[in-house]
Amino acid sequence: MLRHETKEITDLVLKAAKKARKETDSEPEPELTKPIKWPVKCTVGPGLEGAIACETKIGYVNGSKGWLVYRGYDIFDLCAYSTFEEVSYLLLKGHLPTVTQLGNFKKKLIQYRHMPNTQRLLMSFPIEDMNAMAALRLGTNLMRHEFTYDDTDDWRPDLKSVIGADEDSIPMETVPRGEKRAIYEFGSKERGKKFESDSLGLQPASGLDSCYHLIAGVASIAAAVARIRAGHLPLEPDPELSHAANFIYMMTGRRPAPLEERVMDIALILHADHGINASTFASMVVASTLSDFYFSVGAGIAALNGPLHGGANEQVLRVLNEIATVDNVKPWLEKIRKQKGKIMGFGHRVYKAYDPRARVLGPLAEYLAKNSESGLKLLHIAQALEREVASSFGTEKKIFPNVDFYSGIVYSCMGISPELFTPIFAVSRVAGWTARVLEYLENNRIFRPRAMYIGEFEKKYKPIQKRT
Ligand code: SDX
Repeated sequence: MLRHETKEITDLVLKAAKKARKETDSEPEPELTKPIKWPVKCTVGPGLEGAIACETKIGYVNGSKGWLVYRGYDIFDLCAYSTFEEVSYLLLKGHLPTVTQLGNFKKKLIQYRHMPNTQRLLMSFPIEDMNAMAALRLGTNLMRHEFTYDDTDDWRPDLKSVIGADEDSIPMETVPRGEKRAIYEFGSKERGKKFESDSLGLQPASGLDSCYHLIAGVASIAAAVARIRAGHLPLEPDPELSHAANFIYMMTGRRPAPLEERVMDIALILHADHGINASTFASMVVASTLSDFYFSVGAGIAALNGPLHGGANEQVLRVLNEIATVDNVKPWLEKIRKQKGKIMGFGHRVYKAYDPRARVLGPLAEYLAKNSESGLKLLHIAQALEREVASSFGTEKKIFPNVDFYSGIVYSCMGISPELFTPIFAVSRVAGWTARVLEYLENNRIFRPRAMYIGEFEKKYKPIQKRT
């Protein structure tokens, strides 16, 4: 249904795919990848550039061909024919779901999107004054609490066992012993249900269900953060809506038109996974210590926040507004180049070709900007900047737009404010984070790289009195 009503979006994606394949056809075909025989030889640069951390079947990025593949499926095909729910299932399970499997998966997502207690806990914090990603990370901690200790009805603590706020109101289940100070004792020692561990032998906060909970719940938390920052109460999810549509609904209070739903769905598909990028690596490092998935996703959110990573999409909009006119693009770029600054939304550690995600997001921005005066202004500045960067850096530096360059214009045209751009990235990437963590834990080894010590040796200790 969604695809039928938005055929022009499907055609836009397929046109981008055709252009991509034509432009990169001359690049050498990549050698097929093969299983690793450890220890493996690889040339490692600063920032672990080129280091091979593990094997994976989840996703493949080819920098020279500009390919992005999820479990063998080309990203353009997934954008044209799939949905974020299907792609999340694919990343987690390794195959596209059957009708029944997708139905059951959607039921899980609908169940886990509903989190009134977590929303209530979230509202007890100054969300409107917090960085949106900090609020999102806080929300995942509250989700952990809800899921692992208190959210299962049969384990909700009976209130009388909880100590009152101050010493005078201590319930009399502990007979006063005339102590000089209150002795706080919680009635129920046993916190949280002892869940049976799942197939990987993992504890409740790390099993497949916590992946479903996180994929469903991070969207609800991000939407709740958006609502609270806009001065509204969070909304209950609408079980009739798709993941993308429900996310827009919970964020804005209005059920989106098919076109808006489809654009959000494609944006979520595009951002879902991308090799061992900084935030995925951060979540894997935390999981490799056998900490749990909520902490892993929290680490992923923290890393994604940085302007060199997921935070770039918000910075791009700041830059486009700072440039303000097409005529100012050239002088602005010359200034930045003189300062040896980084242009937000450009460049990539892996892509030395046009980021396939930008190949879809650029035309989507163009499509949406037709109906938005402010969006059209931003688009024209962005397109002028892209032309200037290409001519200024030339082809040798291979600096192309990346996923963050046009995504902000797409979201702006949808009426979404810039501080929510990176949370939206996290709403999608939580599928990749949880899938990669689940896969890595099948052959877990704690991450522990080395640092080359270049300091001094044999220093003699001097008491402080003798130090000048
Ligand atoms: C994401 O890893 C992933 O897959 C990430 C991501 C994902 O889906 O998870 O794709 C999402 O994070 C996209 C990137 C968003 N970040 C930005 O747009 C910020 C601006 N980009 C740059 O900071 C940079 O390109 C990085 C951080 C993305 C990549 O950095 P690298 O690989 O460390 O590259 P580098 O900084 O070593 O640059 C190599 C050269 C340098 O010139 P020299 O010192 O060799 O002369 O290219 C230049 C850089 O100065 N360069 C840039 C540039 N990017 C690279 N110069 C100006 N502007 C830029 N954006």
